[in-house]
Amino acid sequence: MINEIKIQIKSLLEQELNTTGAVVETPKRGDADLAVPLFGFVKSLGLSITEVADKALAILSKHPLFDHGVFVGGFLNIYLKRTDLAYHILSEINEKNGSYGTKEANGKTVLIDYSSPNIAKSFSVGHLRSTVIGNSLKLIYQKNGYNVVGINHLGDWGTQFGKMIVAYKKWGNKEILEKNPIAELQKLYVKFHDEEANDPTLEQQGRDAFLKLEQNDPEYTQLWQYFRDESLKEFMDMYDLLGVTFDSFNGEAFYNDKMDRVVVELEEKGLLKEDQGALVVHVGENQPPVLIKRTDGATLYATRDLAALLYRKDTYNFDKVLYVVGNEQKLHFDSLKKVTDLMGYNFDIVHVNFGLVLQDGKKMSTRSGKFTKLMDVIDQAVSDAKNAIEQKNPELKNKDEVAKAVGVGAVIFNDLKNERHLDIDFNLENMVKFEGQTGPYLQYSIVRIYSILRQTQFDLTKVNKELYKEDVYFNLIKVLDQFPQTIERACQENTPSTIARYLLQLSQEFNSFYAKVKVNVEDEVIRNTNLLLVRSILNVLVEGLRLLGIKHLEEM
Ligand code: ARG
Repeated sequence: MINEIKIQIKSLLEQELNTTGAVVETPKRGDADLAVPLFGFVKSLGLSITEVADKALAILSKHPLFDHGVFVGGFLNIYLKRTDLAYHILSEINEKNGSYGTKEANGKTVLIDYSSPNIAKSFSVGHLRSTVIGNSLKLIYQKNGYNVVGINHLGDWGTQFGKMIVAYKKWGNKEILEKNPIAELQKLYVKFHDEEANDPTLEQQGRDAFLKLEQNDPEYTQLWQYFRDESLKEFMDMYDLLGVTFDSFNGEAFYNDKMDRVVVELEEKGLLKEDQGALVVHVGENQPPVLIKRTDGATLYATRDLAALLYRKDTYNFDKVLYVVGNEQKLHFDSLKKVTDLMGYNFDIVHVNFGLVLQDGKKMSTRSGKFTKLMDVIDQAVSDAKNAIEQKNPELKNKDEVAKAVGVGAVIFNDLKNERHLDIDFNLENMVKFEGQTGPYLQYSIVRIYSILRQTQFDLTKVNKELYKEDVYFNLIKVLDQFPQTIERACQENTPSTIARYLLQLSQEFNSFYAKVKVNVEDEVIRNTNLLLVRSILNVLVEGLRLLGIKHLEEM
């Protein structure tokens, strides 16, 4: 609301003063709601600074929510009509409930490529990051009025599957595999590389096998399909636990029969060059050429991403594509953008990059450490949460369900609270704490509000909006008022952390309000005035957590 007033005041000033470039700021310090720097007008209007101040004051008085202005240090500090403003903000939140801050459909389609793990390998912590960031962005874009298509671009194609087939045929055993498919496949893959030292022909055998797979050899295809199905089963357990969904699982293999088109089109556009028998595209002096086809005719990761982009444009007619992938693939997405620009497409491609996951300051790998599977790590978070709940609230009924929401929420929040391009620390003990910057802390704030609301009935007709002009109320209401622009910024910058940080701030302010103000008082009017505020905070916290892909609880 204040953000809208800011824009209205700017245009009011510009209109009345017949200029452009009026600035209206949100002051970082002090208690003014908005501030206008006046020096800029002195010259253009040919007036003294105090004359400018008087003039601006007269103009701003026309705004219905303007209360008074104070001229200090070249600024006109603006104070808005607190009671009306506050009441307006709270009624809107209360009326709209979960749809507070929701934008109308804008007719644009954004495609989000996230999670995208490699099959026949265990799900890495990097893929976990991609999964939770991508899922949150999906919810954030939907909230901002976009049509979103979520794609899991499975890593299910490439020379490694040729190697896997060779290894399986040599040393594999279906029965053993069925018990623990991914772990077994991973072992076979490691064995393949160990054996390469003894048998130098293995490498070539692997390449040949992949070529046969690319040519749809029935036996090889069947094996590959089996690897894929088994892997996906395991991945689905993880997605179910995290509450993450996709609109498509078309991975790299899906583009096997759609790659000729890319090669032909690159050729026609004169972009394909031969380089020692291979086909490449040159994208600039300072960047290595992009490999499209190897000497033996096999395609590559980049070829499949090009084919995927063209297919996706035809299928979804997207306005924007987000790739939620680690920092280390920067060059790949740079190249993808450059190649498609050279082809004349000018796609809006964003590499939504993120940092590593560290444990005790070192790159976390599920293969070393105490856990072999990421699932075990998350299970541990859930069991830690269960212990904490057991201590805090032994009477709670659905402890397991709550523990799951708390443990999973803790892992998700630990990821999303940080600016995504930075490395994050994976410390289970810290992330499951009920205090500090954690998911459980936010869930717990929500639970506190539910318990306040359970104690009494709420009656909107008994609210005295005059109370809201007190700082304790008004400052908190101003924070609530920032929710819509926070969501908008998270969308523009592709940063769920913007919302995560905001929710922490709101929770902290709520908790300190709650320490200062007794909410459920005898006086009916004061009580309902408090309740309207508290319900509004609840709405925003719940909706904010939803946008991060985290469940809220009514009791914990
Ligand atoms: N499977 C890839 C990896 O694990 C990530 C794929 C990302 N998406 C894409 N369209 N390239 O590194």
